[in-house]
Amino acid sequence: MKRSEINTYIKEAEEFFASFQFYLPAFSKWTLEDWKKNREKCDEILSCAMGWDVTDFGSGDFLKVGLLLFTIRNGVLHSEKYTKPYAEKIMLVKPGQVTPMHCHYRKQEDIINRGGGRLVFQLAPAENNKPVRGKVNVVKDGLLLTVDSSEKIPLEPGESLTLVPGAFHTFHADPSFGSVMVGEVSSVNDDNTDNCFAEERERFQKWEEDTLPTRLTVSDYADFFNIK
Ligand SMILES: [Fe+2]
Repeated sequence: MKRSEINTYIKEAEEFFASFQFYLPAFSKWTLEDWKKNREKCDEILSCAMGWDVTDFGSGDFLKVGLLLFTIRNGVLHSEKYTKPYAEKIMLVKPGQVTPMHCHYRKQEDIINRGGGRLVFQLAPAENNKPVRGKVNVVKDGLLLTVDSSEKIPLEPGESLTLVPGAFHTFHADPSFGSVMVGEVSSVNDDNTDNCFAEERERFQKWEEDTLPTRLTVSDYADFFNIK
């Protein structure tokens, strides 16, 4: 993807979240100059990978397989400095856009339809860190359900699923409805080490730098600040 596309998708997300009166912290709007000015104060943002995050999971086709996220709060696993055991994200899922089948080794997460269209899940039991066919138990807003891996589980606005470590899940926004504002409330999040994809996927990509970033993303921090 090109940087100009990342800039456009982030701008779209800012407007989309604001249309639900869901507002992000001030650093979500920082320019490159603001980041430089605040460098000494923003170590927690950088260390906890808070902020914008756009991925196509290595698919090369963001609108088909991709996700736009903003990590609002997070900690660092085993850190004595950044000890939050919890994380929160807000995401924009476009109609038909898929987040591919994966599970987390450590993280437990609630994925919430915060508004917009319909979010559709499929779940699968795991065997040797791979999804297999069969039944799986899942909690939907406090209710225990048993579902089959072939089943589609729709989440209407306000509804959520609890995904425990090792529970394989994939989701997309129903193409017959609009984009979905998706929330995530979870234990501490580490997208570098804690994602187990069913098929080989790339969580972070390098973009074609055809223009300057209007917003930094979490995968820009190391290069922008020259962090080893
Ligand atoms: Fe997940």
